[in-house]
Amino acid sequence: MSDDKAGVYPVPAEWAHAKIDAAGYREMYRRSVEDPHGFWTEHGRRIDWIKPFTRTGDWSFDAEHFGIAWFADGTLNVSANCLDRHLATRGEQVAILWEPDDPAGEGRSLTYRALHDEVCRFANALKSLGAGKGSRITLYMPMIPETTVAMLACARIGAIHSVVFAGFSPEALAGRIQDCDSTIVITADEGRRGGKTVPLRANVDEALTHCNSVEHVIVVRHTGGGGAPKEDGREHDYAALVAAASPDCPPEEMAAEDPLFILYTSGSTGKPKGVLHTSGGYLVWAAMTHEIVFDYRAPEVYWCAADVGWVTGHSYIVYGPLANGATSLMFEGVPNWPDASRVWQVVDKHRVTIFYGAPTMLRALMREGDQWVARTERSSLRLLGSVGEPINPEAWEWYHKVVGGGRCPIVDTWWQTETGGHMITPLPGATALKPGSATLPFFGVVPELVDAEGKLLEGAAEGNLVLATSWPGQMRTVWGDHARFFQTYFSAYPGKYFTGDGCRRDADGYYWITGRVDDVINVSGHRMGTAEVESALVAHPKVAEAAVVGMPHAVKGQGIYAYVTLNAGETGDEALRAELVRWVRHEIGPIAAPDAVQFAPGLPKTRSGKIMRRILRKIAEGEVGSLGDTSTLADPKVVDDLVANRVPAA
Ligand code: WTA
Repeated sequence: MSDDKAGVYPVPAEWAHAKIDAAGYREMYRRSVEDPHGFWTEHGRRIDWIKPFTRTGDWSFDAEHFGIAWFADGTLNVSANCLDRHLATRGEQVAILWEPDDPAGEGRSLTYRALHDEVCRFANALKSLGAGKGSRITLYMPMIPETTVAMLACARIGAIHSVVFAGFSPEALAGRIQDCDSTIVITADEGRRGGKTVPLRANVDEALTHCNSVEHVIVVRHTGGGGAPKEDGREHDYAALVAAASPDCPPEEMAAEDPLFILYTSGSTGKPKGVLHTSGGYLVWAAMTHEIVFDYRAPEVYWCAADVGWVTGHSYIVYGPLANGATSLMFEGVPNWPDASRVWQVVDKHRVTIFYGAPTMLRALMREGDQWVARTERSSLRLLGSVGEPINPEAWEWYHKVVGGGRCPIVDTWWQTETGGHMITPLPGATALKPGSATLPFFGVVPELVDAEGKLLEGAAEGNLVLATSWPGQMRTVWGDHARFFQTYFSAYPGKYFTGDGCRRDADGYYWITGRVDDVINVSGHRMGTAEVESALVAHPKVAEAAVVGMPHAVKGQGIYAYVTLNAGETGDEALRAELVRWVRHEIGPIAAPDAVQFAPGLPKTRSGKIMRRILRKIAEGEVGSLGDTSTLADPKVVDDLVANRVPAA
């Protein structure tokens, strides 16, 4: 901890006029925790309410009175906040600036007026297919403007969207459609990424062979590949629906606590959970964090380089920016195609001022060499952001120096699908930065560190990160399983929300996230549950048993290491290894593909049959000298075999 003072980056002089400075942060933070009702009464008004709220936070994390609500007596419409309220002042400003995969391709931009028009039409089209308040609609979409239109159209009529990342397999998509019984699926013929096409509609067709809730499939014709929509009463062409619909669609009045969306995320056990966010609190949180953390000033061009299939895309491509009247750039492609300059070329082309991306992308680009960055200008940039996983100081320094030319603060934002928006983060005009630290809590956030027994740790310490109080953007339940919501987040440390992350607090009160402490692996900033990968592996006919752990990976942050025990008579060779990797890609999607597969005659188990993951993690990490106590194993000799046959990272 002695290096906490080394490499501190003070707030640059040019940031003296930021929306919030250091004294402002301290004062606002104090008020947010000492007088939450007063604070949220003021900040809840940053969005438009149909019926104003009088209540703010009504919540309890205790088993007996468990429940979470914010602004509960207010009503609003989220799409009206993202569209209608900007029409008078910025109707002709670009809302969505779309950059296609192919740099020579034609981009598109939708003004607030154009976006409003298309959302209203599509919302009417959804209504004509029977959708309304509370309907579930699954989106399996590429990074195109129609995805934003579809999300806002759902919000306009009070339907609940569930966006499934387009990199998931038909199997994974089917599971998510079934879990929430979606009646409508919106997709595109194909997506484009890095010069290749992704067969989205074909994947939907495959998924629908095992989903019977779906009545309608709407297809956006994007590439023109994969055949025209059948127009058979079940399949519809997006453009035809929009063209036929009326542009007049008054927004549905929604209660603050009415659901806005479901987003599936991996946990340490079982199937992915449908994280449910509601309307009022979520939008307040997304809009407020977007404005303050990015010091956003309309109409500058802001770019969040996440995929809209993850929470970062929901909160920081769509809802936060559009509620704030921003110009939000949406990029269809990948960072290293056609070459490793692409991201910075897009920054120059559109004069991007704020860029928000993941450490895994930075590490991948850093490996390609500085020349790819150096050949671009990047003079429009004034702020950089990082999200999704811990950023190693080396990548931080590179981002700061090479990408930002030493001029731009970096906001390293720690948060989760469950939190709706930023929780621990610097404010660029207020916070001195330490590379690798997410720094200090946002307003209303009360982080605490506890040890394994739940004892509160004071001062400089390392432990499990919990949150002591609710905040407006907090998830409200797991779709269809409220008991699981309580069990997952509130049972480990009674009265607190458990994040699943480990964390260190230094002598200055700065937080340093150390990574997950549960059985979740963070692969390239994407959460993967070890249990999901294990159940995909054991579904293979030759596999008897599987255990999956994370291992360090130079680009992805963490890679997936799988130990596999085969059925009697099977042999583990290279061909089977490749087949198992393909199998998992097919069952879940490419992000779940193991980086290493080790065939093991047995797994280390306690006498009661529990797999000792601690040992498997150490072996995967290559720390075979520090396996700890193995005497409680049923058969300690299996460890020798595991160590001897360790597979080096691919
Ligand atoms: C990790 C993504 C360190 C963390 C927004 C968390 C981070 C999980 C950071 C949530 C960060 C996210 N520094 N770790 N700045 N941001 N994480 O739900 O482990 O996809 O629990 O949300 O990512 O991932 P999720």
